[in-house]
Amino acid sequence: MRALAWVMISCALALAGTDHTVVVSGEVSDSQCAFNVHSSGNEGPSLRNVAKALAAFERTLLARDSRFDRYALGDKRALTLHEKNGLVIFIGKGRCARCHNGPNFADIKFQNIGAGGGEDPGRSSITGMESDRGAFKTPSLRNVELHPPYMHDGSLSTLEEVIDYYDRGGSPRPGKSPFIMKIGLTDREKRDLLSFLKSLTDNSAVEEK
Ligand code: HEC
Repeated sequence: MRALAWVMISCALALAGTDHTVVVSGEVSDSQCAFNVHSSGNEGPSLRNVAKALAAFERTLLARDSRFDRYALGDKRALTLHEKNGLVIFIGKGRCARCHNGPNFADIKFQNIGAGGGEDPGRSSITGMESDRGAFKTPSLRNVELHPPYMHDGSLSTLEEVIDYYDRGGSPRPGKSPFIMKIGLTDREKRDLLSFLKSLTDNSAVEEK
């Protein structure tokens, strides 16, 4: 029971992709859920942090009233022209939807995109397989603008930096996904992609500080 609770909390933290400082010290051996936990800031682990992380997770479950959702439901005016262009780039030239797909903009997979400092073994620490080294669970992009910094180690501070990272094809890293390669976006395309990412924010999911 205790182990299960830890797994649930760890999964929740992973899915939340939260920027709240969280240190998971429980043994999570369940291979169903290896996780990316952002750890940033300098608060130590506490019940308050865990509660915040769970609240952030719940918000990702409830974040279903973004302007993008309204557009998808047929309100063609819910997105601006720039956001629509960004959507086209997200699916097409940018190849983002290769991994960020489905209702939460996340395949349920572990991918090596080469992000971060490279010290974290990622998924391989759970599976023990060298081929999983540096692979992390694709995070949801719902409400992504609300929780910088980005990537498992918080190494990218803004969404602009994330877009620049993908645009240059990421860092050279063994085992990196073939979908992470130089894109060659214009400044305008970068701005449009950014505005699309922001259209995934559900403003009713108010951040609790
Ligand atoms: C090969 C699969 C793949 C592709 C293609 C991909 N991503 Fe990602 N994305 C990931 C993974 C895996 C992570 C988490 C990496 C980590 O934690 O180090 C991530 C992280 C992110 C994050 C940070 C989320 C957070 O909560 O930290 C953003 C934003 C993002 N991707 C947007 C994009 C955009 C925009 C594109 C297209 C230009 C794109 N992704 C293409 C797999 C992918």
